[in-house]
This record gives sequence, structure tokens and C-alpha cells, in this order.
Amino acid sequence: MIVDRLGRQFRNLRVSLTAACNYACTYCVPDGKRLMKAQNEMPATELLKAVVYLQQATGIDKIRITGGEPLVTPKFDDFLLGVTKLPLQDISLTTNGQLLLKKKEVIIDSGLKRINISLDTLNPLKFQQIARSGDLETVLAGIDAMLEAGLKVKINMVPLRSQNGQDILPMLDYCLDRGIELRFIELMRMGHLVSGGGFQQDFISMESLLDEIRTRYEFARTDAPYDSTAARFAIPGRGTFGIIANESEPFCRSCTRLRLSSDGYLYGCLSSSRRQYIGDIIDEPSHVALPKLQKMLLSALDDKKLAFQGEVTVMKFIGG
Ligand code: 5AD
Repeated sequence: MIVDRLGRQFRNLRVSLTAACNYACTYCVPDGKRLMKAQNEMPATELLKAVVYLQQATGIDKIRITGGEPLVTPKFDDFLLGVTKLPLQDISLTTNGQLLLKKKEVIIDSGLKRINISLDTLNPLKFQQIARSGDLETVLAGIDAMLEAGLKVKINMVPLRSQNGQDILPMLDYCLDRGIELRFIELMRMGHLVSGGGFQQDFISMESLLDEIRTRYEFARTDAPYDSTAARFAIPGRGTFGIIANESEPFCRSCTRLRLSSDGYLYGCLSSSRRQYIGDIIDEPSHVALPKLQKMLLSALDDKKLAFQGEVTVMKFIGG
């Protein structure tokens, strides 16, 4: 087993299917310029092979499909149908929801049980300002479709003081009314936010979020699994919400995440651009590939930091 001195090991894998995205959110894409077209991306068959080998090398049995935006790539269907056939404990998907209606059938057919949808506001104009693309109605219809199909839905919201700071309570109510767990993600210093880019002005801390929520609800903190990134809170009789408090309450010491980018690199830490290329290894037989992977995994684990220090890499390249 690969374990570091803090007892950390890789227990869940996030696979980015593509770096391409149909949004250009202000906190991810500077100046609304779309980043370069995705390049050298691995096909679904290769990504699935990588998942199988990584599972054998680490024992990982939790997988999240992410991006970029995973629903924009034609390989989404094959990957989803392939990965849901593997003997994994838990499979989930993170999407911005814009294409959910189009992908509804394959999602239901695959038997996927959980989905996280990114949604930063319920105001159509603000939605356009933040995502600089897409439309709110389509996302909301997609969320309804997932709920109707019986999937467990979580919503991710990144609160930004200058953009959706007023939407915290409306978003919480929307989610509580539908049995959805809302996850507030504290703004992270990634990409252009590492060196300014409005980070200080826009950052809303866990404490400020809780102060705001307290104006409407009483709540209590509840237990979360040891390697959960979210602090969880229960509002008696109404539901739960979470805060991924990357700055206020760093969770690096119990981080068990491993990331595989769409172009075949392993990343051990979101706060490090160090990476290991595995695109060629996965074509080798397992007795050759697995020892090589083990070595790389040790090195990837060693890349884990004790606190998030900011990272120039943007989320869409290494998977949120
Ligand atoms: N800070 C916080 N959250 C971010 N996301 C993307 N970039 C950032 C950032 N700089 C979020 C997306 C998505 C999740 C995978 O990560 O909104 O919900």
C-alpha cells in the first residue's frame, strides 16, 4: 500500500475526460478568452485502461468523472458506460449541467447514482455574467430531470462577493426545497487568481457564509468522513449543506485524491503543477505497467502539500 508520513493514501480518483468547456467562468478563464483547444486527449478506451490499472495499483474504488466539462466530449458516453461496468464502490460525475437534458438517457442507462452540478446563481443575467455562456433555464431543467430519475444531486456554488454574493440564501432555499445538498466552494487561488485577478475582493470565507445563513436558519455542524473536503451542516427539519473551505479550514492533511488529466498525466495535488505521464504505460502488460505506476504514485503522493498555496494551473486542465 502506498501511504505517506501523514497516513495519506490515494482513495479516490478524479478523471478529467477533456479540458474543453462550454463555459468561460470568470473565476476560471481570464478576460473571457477561451483557453486553447484541448490537445493530445486520450480516447475513452485508454482512459478506462488507466482507471483499471490505477485501481489495481492503489485499491482506489471511488471515481469522479470531471473535466473541463465532461458532457461536451463525444467520448463521454463510452467512458460512462465503461466505467459503470467496473467493480467500483462509488462513481459520480461533476458537470455544469448545460448538456444534461441531451445526455439524460445515457446517464440513466449507465445506472449512475450521484451527480454534482455546478451552479453559481439562480439569476439568469448573473448566470450569463459569470459563465459567459449557456443559459440558466436549461441547467434547471437538467437538474429536474436528474431528480426525477432518482439520482442523488449535489450542487456546487462558488460564492463571489462582486457577482453572486446576494445569491447565497436563494440558492440554499432552492436546494433545501428539492432535497439537494448545496456545497459552497470557497474561491481558490488558481490560474489568474493566484496573483490578484480579484481574488481578495471576491473571496467569501466560511465564517461570512455561515453568518449569512444564520440570518435565516439555525444549523449545527455534523460529522463528515475523515477524507471529506466539505464541512457539513444540518438544518433541522430542512436538510444539509456543506462548505469546501479550502482557505478557512484546509483539508490537505487528510486529502486522498488523485487526478488523471485528459492528456494522460497523474496529479497528486491541486496545489502543485508536478505531474507524471502515464499515457504510454497503460499500453504495456500489467506486470510491466504496475511497478512503473507504483513508482509514479509514490512520487505523486509526495507532491501533496500541507496547505493549498495557490496554483497557476486552472481547474479545467486538471479536473475540479
Ligand atoms: N475556486 C473555487 N472553485 C472553482 N471551481 C473552478 N475553479 C474554481 C476556483 N478557482 C469549481 C467549479 C466546479 C468545481 C469542480 O470547481 O465551479 O463547481
